[in-house]
Amino acid sequence: MGAAREERWSLLWATVAAFILAVDASFVEDLDDSFKENRKDDIWLVDFYAPWCGHCKKLEPVWNEVGKEMGSTGSPVKVGKMDATSYSSIASEFGVRGYPTIKLLKGDLAYNYRGPRTKEDIIEFANRVAGPIIRPLPSQQMFEHVQKRHHVFFLYVGGESPLKEKYIEVASELIVYTYFFSALEEVFPENVTLPEMPAVLVFKDGTYFVYDEYEDGDLSSWINRERFQGYLHVDGFTLYELGDTGKLVVIAIIDDRNVSVEHTRLKSVVQDVARNYRDHFHRNFQFGHMDGNDYINSLLMDDVKIPSVVVLNTSNQQYFLPHKPIESTEDMVQFINEILEGTAEAQGGNGILQRIKRIIYDAKSTVGSVFKSSPLLGCFLFGLPLGVISIMCYGICTADTEGGSDETEASKKETTGRDLTDEGTEEEQEEENDEKPVEIPDGEEEPKNILEKKKD
Ligand SMILES: *[C@@H]1O[C@H](CO)[C@@H](O)[C@H](O)[C@H]1NC(C)=O
Ligand SMILES: *[C@@H]1O[C@H](CO)[C@@H](O)[C@H](O)[C@H]1NC(C)=O
Ligand SMILES: *[C@@H]1O[C@H](CO)[C@@H](O)[C@H](O)[C@H]1NC(C)=O
Repeated sequence: MGAAREERWSLLWATVAAFILAVDASFVEDLDDSFKENRKDDIWLVDFYAPWCGHCKKLEPVWNEVGKEMGSTGSPVKVGKMDATSYSSIASEFGVRGYPTIKLLKGDLAYNYRGPRTKEDIIEFANRVAGPIIRPLPSQQMFEHVQKRHHVFFLYVGGESPLKEKYIEVASELIVYTYFFSALEEVFPENVTLPEMPAVLVFKDGTYFVYDEYEDGDLSSWINRERFQGYLHVDGFTLYELGDTGKLVVIAIIDDRNVSVEHTRLKSVVQDVARNYRDHFHRNFQFGHMDGNDYINSLLMDDVKIPSVVVLNTSNQQYFLPHKPIESTEDMVQFINEILEGTAEAQGGNGILQRIKRIIYDAKSTVGSVFKSSPLLGCFLFGLPLGVISIMCYGICTADTEGGSDETEASKKETTGRDLTDEGTEEEQEEENDEKPVEIPDGEEEPKNILEKKKD
């Protein structure tokens, strides 16, 4: 009898669970051919996915959450997903090149999302891009509120002007990255002394900087350079965004949990240089730290010590390592000056040898991750052919035993290589493998594709 009751309960739970799942999913519309015609009057946030792609599967529960939250908060943004393999012609019209691709479609514009795939980040992006391009700040309270909420934001001060037109034009493109406001002079607290009107300012790092057309060049590239805090916690995603600014990235590679003096000192040295040498270096360098060396090792195909400093040129994949440990601000300033003067020795790069190295490296990591996720399959896929080849070689080389042992040497080396590289880097590696947009080996990642004008 107890068993029957339990069964009924579990049946009930299953029904409830199925119902909840159905409700969850119903916030996300499954889009098909008709989408192109029907989307016109609405703002859409769409996940273009492929049924076989692992990252798409990982995104799915997050996407349902996004849909649910956008639905329940009454957002004007509709959330959908489209199987880009079934509707490939529509997907390619929207410029979908990898999976998953997240886009916000607003009128004739399609904005790409390239940030971390978390519910909070995606929703923040959707609300920012779907809202007004320029947000007015009518009062000092609003100004203070915004200052508390955003680490970095841009502000136009003044009435109508050619500068304002330019500001709006640039903002409608760069809204994918940051916030744009406008205000009249009256809303500023006393400690903000404004230069001549009209002006564009960036507020960050506890202070503000004023755009100067003569010194800073064109507004769009100034905003692109200034849209990050002076010092950042860098991860794989931010590294690529930082690279788009054309600056070299100075990264302290540390272990965040290690409280020994070597780690904390290095971090504060880099912070100190970022803050106190801003005038000298901010045009060419961006500063930050990274927790752990897994990511950077797989990127550079090198073994970077912890703690240490790496300076990375993401546009040609070259990097610089100091020839002696950095122990003080003076050491750091000297190292950066050597890079600026061109006397520091660059490593890596995107030459043909580096590309070949990358292919081998990626192949090894792929083999490694197959073994890691499913050792049996790995043995079967790679072990069997290797075994066959070894036996064949052995057969061919029986007269010459040297050859046979070389073969085993080589496969042994491959095994250790894999062990070293797949620790924790598996995800980024996969990231690089199935998604072109985040891939570094080409270096020709066009910032243009962040926003594509769509003509229907
Ligand atoms: C102005 O002063 C307020 C408090 O007095 C402070 O919170 C704010 O950061 C200051 N702003 C700037 C730009 O220095
Ligand atoms: C912290 O870093 C130091 C120096 O790199 C190292 O010797 C030490 O083992 C680390 N401690 C921990 C707990 O990882
Ligand atoms: C970084 O790479 C770009 C593109 O190859 C190059 O023009 C620039 O000089 C490099 N910067 C340094 C400091 O090497």
